[in-house]
Amino acid sequence: MARTEVKTANAAEATASEEKQAQNGKTETEISVRGLTKSFGSQTVLEDITCDIPKGRITLMLGPSGTGKSVFLKCLMGLLKLDRGEIWVGEKNLPTLARKELYRVRRKFGVLFQDGALFGSMSVYDNVAFPLREHTRKGEREIRDIVNEKISMVGLQGAEKKLPGQISGGMKKRAGLARALVLDPEIILFDEPDSGLDPVRTAFLNELILDLNKQLGSSMIVVTHDIATARRVADYIGMLYLRNLVQFGPAKDMFDSKIPVVKQFLAGATEGPIGMSEEADRGKGDGGKFVSTSGMSAEETERLEREAGAPEEDREIAEREAGVRDGGGSRASGDASQGVA
Ligand SMILES: Nc1ncnc2c1ncn2[C@@H]1O[C@H](COP(=O)(O)OP(=O)(O)O)[C@@H](O)[C@H]1O
Ligand SMILES: [Mg+2]
Repeated sequence: MARTEVKTANAAEATASEEKQAQNGKTETEISVRGLTKSFGSQTVLEDITCDIPKGRITLMLGPSGTGKSVFLKCLMGLLKLDRGEIWVGEKNLPTLARKELYRVRRKFGVLFQDGALFGSMSVYDNVAFPLREHTRKGEREIRDIVNEKISMVGLQGAEKKLPGQISGGMKKRAGLARALVLDPEIILFDEPDSGLDPVRTAFLNELILDLNKQLGSSMIVVTHDIATARRVADYIGMLYLRNLVQFGPAKDMFDSKIPVVKQFLAGATEGPIGMSEEADRGKGDGGKFVSTSGMSAEETERLEREAGAPEEDREIAEREAGVRDGGGSRASGDASQGVA
């Protein structure tokens, strides 16, 4: 009996390592982008972008503010019409799809928008439940199980009843992430998950992203200009600069890049063509004290963040600004209309 168990464990191990090897050798493609070109009026934002976003991995798209990172994500989901190019998700080329088919493909995507894009007048629970109520015929009991699972998955247990105005920026991102997960997306897009967050909360969020990637096996595309995030989470990196995808490849190759703009950006150097001194290695040097908070309660998550040196919680400030406890946060905290594909 014991022997069989050992054998099984070894076999499982072998399979896992074989899988890993196969992954290293040949990467499957989740989204194939061919010649993507997008302009607004006379302004070309993205020009002739070609890359293969690998399946099941974390791909990071880096670039200075205003280079078209958000536009790129919206193009991937078919939320913006291209001028030219192809976006293949499986067998479907988005620009050629009829509306109904496009909606179907979009269901594969979960998105965490920059500010979490939560409905300000809805509790965390209702925000997370929203896509299920809107896009499925599931009953409230089933919805409750799914919502609770996802809320727990992002380390937010216990915060269900709070309004977005009563929770910190970091917690808002987690709530937005839980909502992005409820339809079990194959592809998860993160638009600057680190924006507006201090380095400590960013580091915890990054650990969570890494852990979720392992837990769920979904393909993740993270857009950011934060080098610490790039270092920590990226399997693949693409660098957008002046309309172009300057380089795209495995993270390791990118950090060894000879292309000056890539080198400079990834080094977080203050000199060179970009000139962004604030990019210098924020949030680094604290390796070890950041763990995945998946499965933790909101209270535990916040305690860990505080212990790791996160600045005084912005929640208290948020609470004060929200004023009256109930209904104080009736203002939507973002463009919630885009929160659901
Ligand atoms: N809907 C739009 N209409 C017109 N211009 C837009 C629109 N969306 C984005 N842009 C422009 O495209 C450029 C890239 O924007 P964006 O993708 O938001 O940059 P990033 O996310 O990299 O900071 C900016 O110059 C922005 O003003
Ligand atoms: Mg953006």
